[in-house]
Amino acid sequence: MKRSVIRGTGRAVPSRLVTNEDLTKIMDTSDEWIRQRTGIEQRYWIPEGEELGASDLGLEASKKALDLAGWQAEDLDFIIFATLSPDIMFPGSGCLLADKLGLNSTPALDIRQQCTGFLYGLATADAYIKSGLASKVLVVGAEVHSTGLDKSTRGRDVTVIFGDGAGAVCVEGIETDENVGVIASCLHADGSGADSLMVELPASRLPDRMPKDLPADDPRYFPSMDGKKVFKKAVRKLPEVTKEVLEKADLAIDDVDMFFPHQANLRINQAYGQFMKIDESKIFNNIQRYGNTTAASIPMAFDEAIEQKLVGKKNDTVLFLGLGAGLTWGGVLYRFA
Ligand code: UT7
Repeated sequence: MKRSVIRGTGRAVPSRLVTNEDLTKIMDTSDEWIRQRTGIEQRYWIPEGEELGASDLGLEASKKALDLAGWQAEDLDFIIFATLSPDIMFPGSGCLLADKLGLNSTPALDIRQQCTGFLYGLATADAYIKSGLASKVLVVGAEVHSTGLDKSTRGRDVTVIFGDGAGAVCVEGIETDENVGVIASCLHADGSGADSLMVELPASRLPDRMPKDLPADDPRYFPSMDGKKVFKKAVRKLPEVTKEVLEKADLAIDDVDMFFPHQANLRINQAYGQFMKIDESKIFNNIQRYGNTTAASIPMAFDEAIEQKLVGKKNDTVLFLGLGAGLTWGGVLYRFA
C-alpha cells in the first residue's frame, strides 16, 4: 500500500530578533502582559527596510528540507505552499518559490488555510501521493506577518503575537505494508467565524477594492481578531478533532508520542493538555521563541523536535493539530517509517 513519509524537514526565520521589551518602545504593552497571556518572549521579524517575502523564507526552509531528504529540487513533482501572507496578491508564493528553486514546470499550489495551512497541505500531499498523482512533494508553510501589522497601541492585541518564519517538509510515497507515514487526517472549516480573525482590505467584494480616501492605516488593512472567541473555540475544537483523528486511525491517545499543536498561544496548548490529560512533556511548544508563525508554526516545531531528537525513531507517532482563521481546524496523525 502506498504511504506518505517525511524524508526531510527544515525551518527558517529572519535575522531580526524582536523581544517583548522591544515592543514596549513602540506601543503600550509590557513583557509581563505578553508572557502571561500568551507565553511569548520573543519573535523574529524581517529587518526593517529589507524586501523579503514568504517565498524567500520558504526557500531557506525548503533547501534545508531538500538537503536532509537528499533530494534535488528537480526531484520534486509537486509543491504545496501554505501562507496567509503571500509575497504579492498573485501569483501565488508557490510559483515564486519554484522559480527560486530553479524549477520552471513543476506544479505549485498555494493554499490559504492560515493556521491550519500545514495540516491542509500535508493532507493534500498525502492524497496526491495515494492517488498516484505525485510521489515527491514539498510542503511549505511560510509567513511574513511583520510588514502587515498595526504596530501602534491600537493593534497591540494582535501584533505582539505574530512572528515571521517558515517550515518545510519533503514527503515521499513509498510502498509498504506497515502502518506508517500519514495514517489519518481530519480537516474542518466553518466560514461563519470568518470575521473572528481576518484582514478585510483589499477586498474584491467591494466595488472599489482599495477604497479611495481611506488613510493607509485604516484598521481594515491590518489583522483583526476576536481573541477570546478564537481562544474558546480552540480549546473546544482541538480535543474534538484529536478524538476524531484517533478514532479514524483506531489509536488511543497514549499511542501518540508527541503532540504538535499550532503555536497560537501557550495557554491554549496548556489548557488542551490539561483537558486531555496529556503529560506536559509530550506537548511540543516553541511559541516562547518564535511567536505565532501561523502556517509555519507546526513544521517549524516538528523540525526543531527532530533536531533535538525528541522524535524521529521508527514508529514514533505524532499528532499535528491546530485551529485558526477561517475558522479552520484539523489534525493529522503521522508515524515515522
Ligand atoms: O493563530 C490564530 C489563532 N489565534 C488564537 O488562537 C488567539 C486566541 N486568543 C488569544 O490568544 C488571546 O485572546 C489574546 C492573547 C489575543 C488576548 O488575550 P485576552 O486575555 O483575551 O485579552 P483581551 O483581548 O481580552 O484584553 C484584555 C485587556 C484589555 O484591556 P482592558 O479592556 O481589560 O482594560 C486589552 O486592551 O488587555 C489589553 N491588551 C493589552 N495590554 C497590554 C490587549 N493587548 C494588549 C497588549 N499589551 N499587547
